[in-house]
Amino acid sequence: MPKDVQEEGLTLAVDNDNIGWLTFDRPGSKVNLLTTAIMERLDALITELQSRIATGKLVAVVMWSDKPGSFIAGADVNEIAALTDANEAAAKSRKGQKVFARVSRLTVPTIAAIDGSCLGGGTELALACDYRLASDRPSTRIGLPETQLGILPGFGGTVRLPRQCGIQNALNVILTGAPVKPDRARRMALVDRVLSEEGFRDGVRAFIREVITGRVKPSVYEKSFTERLLEDNGLGRKLLFSMARGRTAKRTGGRYPAPMVALDVVERTHGLQVDQALEIEARALGELAVTPVCKNLIRIFQLSTGARDALPAAVLEKRRPVERVGVIGAGVMGGAIAELAASKDVDVVLKDIEQGPLDAGLHHAHELLEKAASKGVFGAEEAGLKFARIQGVLDYAEFGQVDLAIEAVVERMAVKKQVLREAEEALPERAVFATNTSSLSVSELASGATRPARVVGLHFFNPVHRMPLVEVIRTPETSDEALATAFGFALDMDKRPVIVRDSPGFLVNRLLGPYLNEAGYLLEEGVPVRKLDDAVADFGMPMGPCRLLDEVGFDVARHVASELGRELGERLTPSGVIERLLEDGRLGKKNGLGFYIYQDGREKGVDSDLRRLLPGPASTPPNDEEIRRRCLYVMVNEAAFALEQEVVEGAAAVDLAMVMGTGFPPFRGGLLRWADSEGLTSIVESLRELAGRVGPRFEPAPRLVRMAEAGDSFTAPVAV
Ligand code: NAI
Repeated sequence: MPKDVQEEGLTLAVDNDNIGWLTFDRPGSKVNLLTTAIMERLDALITELQSRIATGKLVAVVMWSDKPGSFIAGADVNEIAALTDANEAAAKSRKGQKVFARVSRLTVPTIAAIDGSCLGGGTELALACDYRLASDRPSTRIGLPETQLGILPGFGGTVRLPRQCGIQNALNVILTGAPVKPDRARRMALVDRVLSEEGFRDGVRAFIREVITGRVKPSVYEKSFTERLLEDNGLGRKLLFSMARGRTAKRTGGRYPAPMVALDVVERTHGLQVDQALEIEARALGELAVTPVCKNLIRIFQLSTGARDALPAAVLEKRRPVERVGVIGAGVMGGAIAELAASKDVDVVLKDIEQGPLDAGLHHAHELLEKAASKGVFGAEEAGLKFARIQGVLDYAEFGQVDLAIEAVVERMAVKKQVLREAEEALPERAVFATNTSSLSVSELASGATRPARVVGLHFFNPVHRMPLVEVIRTPETSDEALATAFGFALDMDKRPVIVRDSPGFLVNRLLGPYLNEAGYLLEEGVPVRKLDDAVADFGMPMGPCRLLDEVGFDVARHVASELGRELGERLTPSGVIERLLEDGRLGKKNGLGFYIYQDGREKGVDSDLRRLLPGPASTPPNDEEIRRRCLYVMVNEAAFALEQEVVEGAAAVDLAMVMGTGFPPFRGGLLRWADSEGLTSIVESLRELAGRVGPRFEPAPRLVRMAEAGDSFTAPVAV
């Protein structure tokens, strides 16, 4: 092939057996994307295929990828993000549908050979082929994640999938956006055959011979008796769609419109001619693609996939390989960090001071691995092999080969300093020492180090296996190499690292501090616990502040607040509620006594006994609107202070950290994107009013005032 053709990322080669091989291979990227340019190229190559078919010089067409582990990752989200007009978006969808319709009309057998991830437009292309083959590579997945980005499959997916796999299977795939593994795909006739990863290409060739010689026919999904009952008659379908609607409403809380629209499209297009059905799909896509929710979800996706760019490539290159991790402290965090590293096939030495806690930490890690295995993340045998990577120890004898030590011992500076001294003696000089502290100064800890340049913070969030954020804390002494090693390790762990300057509370806890404290003031003003939590949960936070305080523990909250108070001053004057709860012997969920009562870890409702400690309902307590403004605007304000002090590099880092570390609702696009949508002028006015009426802690940050006056925003305006 001439070079310029190859550079287009899609090539056609016809072999001696007259089989056409369409190979996707996007230059300079790990994944293939269906950009406009690639779609145009595919369109042109289909014309070429047609002319070869017309002259009898083609017997079959295969679509595959030259990228290991990736078939096609979908459309280019940047193109979707740039769409501002519903008609333009619908036209884009029609264009894609047309190209895939041409694929489906080719008069020779077409085969999609999927070895790796096949998502979105990739799956829609595969559905337009006559046959689909999947490799048994552990990472092979087939899915339509569009609804998670606020749109729906717009290249024929909502139309072809239900016809291929049945309505219920299709709804499962489209509405959850969760990709399916090859075996499940085969059971629903989404793929015709699963082939071994080794020799995949030979397997594909053998399959083509079967196809050409007529020994195999495209798979047809055999519905079960109940599926037929529900899907093959009007009444059953009505029931099916209404149940799916109920489940979707519950899951999305009415905040994510795409799954519901996709559901409507599948229902409305059932039984229609494909052309008519595709038109309905295109229009629905057009409407969704320009909604603010779609833009916000895409922004979070972009921030998440772009997390690695927080460190310039030239610095990231300085990272040292981490083949062995030493985890010091086998408690809640240490055990989970050990499991995380082992699950990614990194050797771990897990150290504690006593056998009891060490065994508990190992047990915790084991449980987490088994849970992952039961969810099919990896096989049971693999889970065993991964667990065998963790070596439990009570001294530092095994630390001589450790590349990265992560300390997760009790939150006391003196103990951590002692641990650092001991570890440094045992560690090789090249090793990086990371602390998982959530509230202590990394610089102060490093001041006692022999090699302070190698000390860094790696702040994981609880529960480690679920929370994607890791704050990577840099002190003035931290070397680029140590920073890059810690940052790279977090990436290898599949986390989203955000670089934070060493300062009290780092970023996330610094913002959560005033938020949780404000909840205390609202309680003192007579807002009932449930009302407070509901008002904030209604905004979209995964849980209200009282429930979060229960999870964190009141003792930990008090400790973090006192550390934070040094920096925040009167912005964090404690409300007094936490102190009263602690005096009453309450610690939160961990001793079953928080704002809520817990039995065996399960919440049993708000504790009515709290009446002794909190004022009764006020005659005119702050309403939901004021609750939300007070709790959320203090976070925005604190973010402005943090940005002024260069705690993180910019608004994007704040938004990524808040979504990944606190579950700030993704559909709002992040804390500061949401602030922009509220309008900074209106936030400043509100803060000033609250400062006058409620307390000086609301005094707006100078940076926020400046931005409001200049008409600036934290983030680029949403393109709608
Ligand atoms: P934990 O109390 O569950 O575990 C601490 C472990 O360290 C215990 O097993 C203890 O025996 C061990 N230990 C104490 N001194 C030691 C020493 N000299 N050498 C080795 N092991 C020693 O504590 P947790 O909750 O796991 O927290 C650990 C660290 O992680 C703290 O710095 C905490 O601030 C931080 N963190 C905790 C989070 C949480 O939600 N629990 C979240 C993020 C950070």
